Amino acid sequence: MRLPEELLAAIQREVESVDGKTLARASAELTRRYRAAEFSSPPIQTPEHRAAYLTARLPATYAANWRVFSEVLERAPQAQIASVLDLAAGPGTALFAAVELFPTLRQATLAESDTAWLDLGRRLAAGCSHRVLHEAEWRRCDLRTPFACAPHDLAVISYALGELAPEIADAVLDRGWRLAKQFLVVIEPGTVRGFAAVHRARSLLIAQNANILAPCPHHDACPMAGTRDWCHFAQRLERTTAHRQAKTAALAYEDEKFSYLVASRDAFPPAASRIVRHPRKHSGHVQLTLCAHEGIETRTVSRSQGPAYKLARQSEWGDAWPE
Ligand SMILES: C[S@@+](CC[C@H](N)C(=O)[O-])C[C@H]1O[C@@H](n2cnc3c(N)ncnc32)[C@H](O)[C@@H]1O
Repeated sequence: MRLPEELLAAIQREVESVDGKTLARASAELTRRYRAAEFSSPPIQTPEHRAAYLTARLPATYAANWRVFSEVLERAPQAQIASVLDLAAGPGTALFAAVELFPTLRQATLAESDTAWLDLGRRLAAGCSHRVLHEAEWRRCDLRTPFACAPHDLAVISYALGELAPEIADAVLDRGWRLAKQFLVVIEPGTVRGFAAVHRARSLLIAQNANILAPCPHHDACPMAGTRDWCHFAQRLERTTAHRQAKTAALAYEDEKFSYLVASRDAFPPAASRIVRHPRKHSGHVQLTLCAHEGIETRTVSRSQGPAYKLARQSEWGDAWPE
């Protein structure tokens, strides 16, 4: 997948005053801070960090949001998402993906503590044509304290919970769930740490009677928790030239690894199981690693199984599997 051209152009206008070397240095610094999980102070502090985030991280977090919203539509096709609340919005990444995926979207609110991100997000939105982006309400607020806001059909906390102390993350999650009329989406990096934040959110939401719409096929104990494995998925995205240069990377694409959870007020039929590894496609058979009701299992689907085999050959890591 690729970011919409008008968003790429708006980002380009924001970062063009920062020279390539500075951008690459700031990007390397952000990568180091995120890898070391240094969150005692905000990892994104300077205009150069923001430019690096826009160039090298926003495309990836956008891609993860895009994939998760696609999953909401897949599992709840009749859902009408008219309003979105983006919590810890940064430059509004989740909303930029939401306007592409939800044709029924009419209104959006973005909550963010950093005024520089709010200003920057507004400028990006002004450079795009979607009416919801122009009319969105950008609110400065610190999510550590309660804030007055009407519930929205879908609330999203994208790449933020894991940067907060656990008790603060719990409070933000609680606020997100109370402000979610239909769905709450939580997305984190697809790391051990990111999965731990998502798993904690899953337990807290189940305790509040939330339905887990995706990725889990059930509400029982997660079979990956407490093991050396962790539940995560990947979304491939195209890298622009500026993105490649900021990361000093050669490949024209990258695979963003992410962990996620979609909680729902209403009960929808869950996926029978979820493909939790790249399917291994051999000649005549496909091996699937599934998270199923009975736990993690390996299933072999052979050519003789006709339609199931065809489906397995088309399937990707992260897809639901119907059996
Ligand atoms: C890594 S950025 C994620 C931005 C965006 N959601 C995305 O997916 O690209 C984390 C954001 O959380 C915001 N944030 C951190 N603590 C916050 C708080 N207490 N209240 C509101 N926003 C906060 C930061 O300012 C930053 O913009």
